[in-house]
Amino acid sequence: MADTSETTAPDQGEIRPYTAERYKRLVEDSPNEGLQAYMEAEREFLASVGDASSRTFVELGAGHGRAVSLFAEVARNAICVELNQDMLAELHARSERHRNVTVIDGDVQHLPHLLQGLDVVSPVVVLLQNTLGTIEGDDRRVLAAMKQVAKGAGGDVVLSLFRQGALAGWGVEMYKELSEMIGEPDPGRTDFQSGLFASRTGYVSKWWTDEEVEEMRAFFGGQSVREVVEPAFVILQLRPE
Ligand SMILES: C[S@@+](CC[C@H](N)C(=O)[O-])C[C@H]1O[C@@H](n2cnc3c(N)ncnc32)[C@H](O)[C@@H]1O
Repeated sequence: MADTSETTAPDQGEIRPYTAERYKRLVEDSPNEGLQAYMEAEREFLASVGDASSRTFVELGAGHGRAVSLFAEVARNAICVELNQDMLAELHARSERHRNVTVIDGDVQHLPHLLQGLDVVSPVVVLLQNTLGTIEGDDRRVLAAMKQVAKGAGGDVVLSLFRQGALAGWGVEMYKELSEMIGEPDPGRTDFQSGLFASRTGYVSKWWTDEEVEEMRAFFGGQSVREVVEPAFVILQLRPE
């Protein structure tokens, strides 16, 4: 993980090249069975959060709103934070269909500030689809913000992460299918040992080693509520103390 001491502001000119249309077509509607199984595992995990109907789900980097209808169905309310303007347009469109979903245009590094004055009850603070590995800004700072929000309000964090060991096989094949959006894999700059994927157009994504996942667990301390561990991904629900 990156150094906590650094305060980073995302450079809007260099954010990852996601658009809602491409993300929906290439990721949400992907024919890749492994990717679909991962997204289904995330949905099942979120749908079985305890007491969901009396809690606020807060999604960091909510993208074009893949999880919005699920949150609307299972949660008391949901707050979706995103900074990519193209993703935000579709996120707004999907959220407007539900009375209990709010969208925030903002940087999740400032999460406690963004949530001030909003309706947040026993929050479930969620990072899906390895968003931590492609975060715009400082990953440590985002984890600290999640902890602060959850701990201050009797909440939990949910971390959904890709695992380093799956990058060399399934991961690279999946990224090839996304090359229209992220560029072709760059074997020279991809480092399987540390779980760092790089494309020829400069897209990078971190896949986490078991040691790094344990570091995150230790950082949150407290209770491990639930977890799903598969060769390609891990999904954790942690209750910080
Ligand atoms: C890998 S996509 C996942 C989208 C969505 N969570 C999903 O599971 O379909 C990560 C999203 O996080 C957003 N993001 C990255 N860093 C962010 C930040 N610092 N603040 C707000 N959003 C951020 C990106 O713009 C992108 O839409």
